[in-house]
Amino acid sequence: MARDVFTKENFEKLDQVIQKYKGKPGALMPVLTEAQKIFGCVAIEIQKKISEELNIPLAEIYGVATFYSQFSLQPKGEYVIGVCLGTACYVKGAQDIIDKLAKELNVEVGKTTEDGKFTLVATRCIGACGLAPVLTVNEDVYGKLTADDVDGILAKYR
Ligand code: FES
Repeated sequence: MARDVFTKENFEKLDQVIQKYKGKPGALMPVLTEAQKIFGCVAIEIQKKISEELNIPLAEIYGVATFYSQFSLQPKGEYVIGVCLGTACYVKGAQDIIDKLAKELNVEVGKTTEDGKFTLVATRCIGACGLAPVLTVNEDVYGKLTADDVDGILAKYR
């Protein structure tokens, strides 16, 4: 099972955020942003709660949550590993790296490991083509990689 983020404690934190913004214009964005930080996602259960409390239709909240890339509907892992599949990285073998990560972590691209530790995603060009192929782990950037580097990188976060 993935790490359970839908805890009573997290919903209490969300409540405090909602109370802070309730009745104020433009409350939705800050509440969603805080919810994303608290839960690591804005899953439907969370949107429903926000919809009821702020009296905003769920469809509107869903529209915002899916439009902006900073929000995700699935809980993310503690570490998000992003492998750039932009052209420069792709031609330098990014596919081998993402395949190796998927195998090592036993997870599909776009999914989170069962222990909730890693989410593996493919990204577009992150503007570091000179370092191709590139991957990121949260804020850390690794470049000029080969599939053989994957184990060493994972070991730092395990
Ligand atoms: S294509 Fe990967 S950083 Fe630009």
